[in-house]
Amino acid sequence: MKIAMIGSGYVGLVSGACLADFGHEVVCIDKSSVKIDALKRMEMPIFEPGLEDLVAANVRAGRLSFTTELSAPVAEADVVFIAVGTPSRRGDGHADLSYVYGAAREIAMAIRGFTVVVTKSTVPVGTGDEVERIIREANPDADVVAVSNPEFLREGAAIADFKRPDRIVIGIEDERAREPMTEVYRPLFLNQSPLMFTARRTSELIKYAANAFLATKITFINEIADLCEKVGANVQDVARGIGLDNRIGSKFLNAGPGYGGSCFPKDTLALVKTGHDHGSPLRLVETTVAVNEQRKRAMARKVFAACGGDVRGKSIAILGLTFKPNTDDMREAPSLAIIQALQDGGAIVRAYDPEGMEQAGLLLEGVQYGQGPYDIAEGADALVLLTEWDAFRALDFVRLKTLMAAPVFVDLRNVYRREQIERHGFHYLSVGRPGEDLAAAV
Ligand code: UDX
Repeated sequence: MKIAMIGSGYVGLVSGACLADFGHEVVCIDKSSVKIDALKRMEMPIFEPGLEDLVAANVRAGRLSFTTELSAPVAEADVVFIAVGTPSRRGDGHADLSYVYGAAREIAMAIRGFTVVVTKSTVPVGTGDEVERIIREANPDADVVAVSNPEFLREGAAIADFKRPDRIVIGIEDERAREPMTEVYRPLFLNQSPLMFTARRTSELIKYAANAFLATKITFINEIADLCEKVGANVQDVARGIGLDNRIGSKFLNAGPGYGGSCFPKDTLALVKTGHDHGSPLRLVETTVAVNEQRKRAMARKVFAACGGDVRGKSIAILGLTFKPNTDDMREAPSLAIIQALQDGGAIVRAYDPEGMEQAGLLLEGVQYGQGPYDIAEGADALVLLTEWDAFRALDFVRLKTLMAAPVFVDLRNVYRREQIERHGFHYLSVGRPGEDLAAAV
């Protein structure tokens, strides 16, 4: 199949490279010549494990190419994917669809012959209707069907998620889209990934409902963690105890500093707006958004408490800035609000992140960046683990104790066990685990 991928950002680039790897002929298109030139030199605009090798292999094989020119690849394509950004619109939280609609207008002028136009960007319910309308309005002769095919990939595991998805959701209104879309994903049938055809609006809603459910699941366990701290229970055991019930499931029950990233915050907000617009408020999701927002400041208060109630003039060392490991993405990272709150409290913040410092430098002011955990720990009054990078999972606490001004360790990802740290004379605070881990001790 000939595929044109409009938008070579996170979703577009990963999807384009994976579809080329399936054997399709893929052209990735982006308006940014800086991005396309870099891609032609094999420089990835994002950090994603395995992506560079995948891109290089498929470029070499002649199945993947990059361009800023949309017309020729769209004219030749059987299937055109729209994978452009849908940021939260400033002020009202609605998804900004101007890039999606702009792409639809350009596609309209370029298509030749029967073409399936697939929206991969996360878009509110009804966007597919509008994409189809825009194309037909701009080019009444266009033989086109608009399809919804949301992406569920996680940053840091995007290639594996694309190639071994739990499911592929495809929303169609015209039966003519079924066969080409089946062809696009045929290689996945070997992995027995279920292909699920639905109505287009249903497919659009599935994406938001999935993200809102997962965000709510995380927020639920975070509130249970707070309660654990009050009543002397262990949130990891609670999570395991409930997660073993198949109806609940054990994933996404890790308590922490709150969810961040490019999807959950934006998509929960957009779903709340859609609910309001249609007079069907989603009160659970509204509460999830509010609770997650408050949580970041609450995490800063935990650091204040670890430092005896006051951080004024104290040096706080932050391990991990990105919203999760294995990405350089700082979008809506809890670290942003937590560090701001620490600085507001008068702390001097030093930080280290394996991939995120460049982007963090654009978003945060007054942070001193170091070379590694031991560098930033020097003279620190507290060390705070904010993102659970592998590099932070086996820290040398004997060395840290000699370097730090005070042996205080705040583990906001529950990476360590209390006794492991306290053994070295550290004051240890984690999330939802106030006492000893009794279950692990027996
Ligand atoms: C998410 C969805 O998982 C994916 O399906 C969708 O396509 C895009 O949004 P992503 O944003 O890459 O993917 O990250 P994810 O791994 O889901 O984590 C999101 C946030 O939740 C992170 O900040 C993470 O630290 C947090 N999280 C996740 C928890 O705090 N606890 C958990 O148990 C799981």
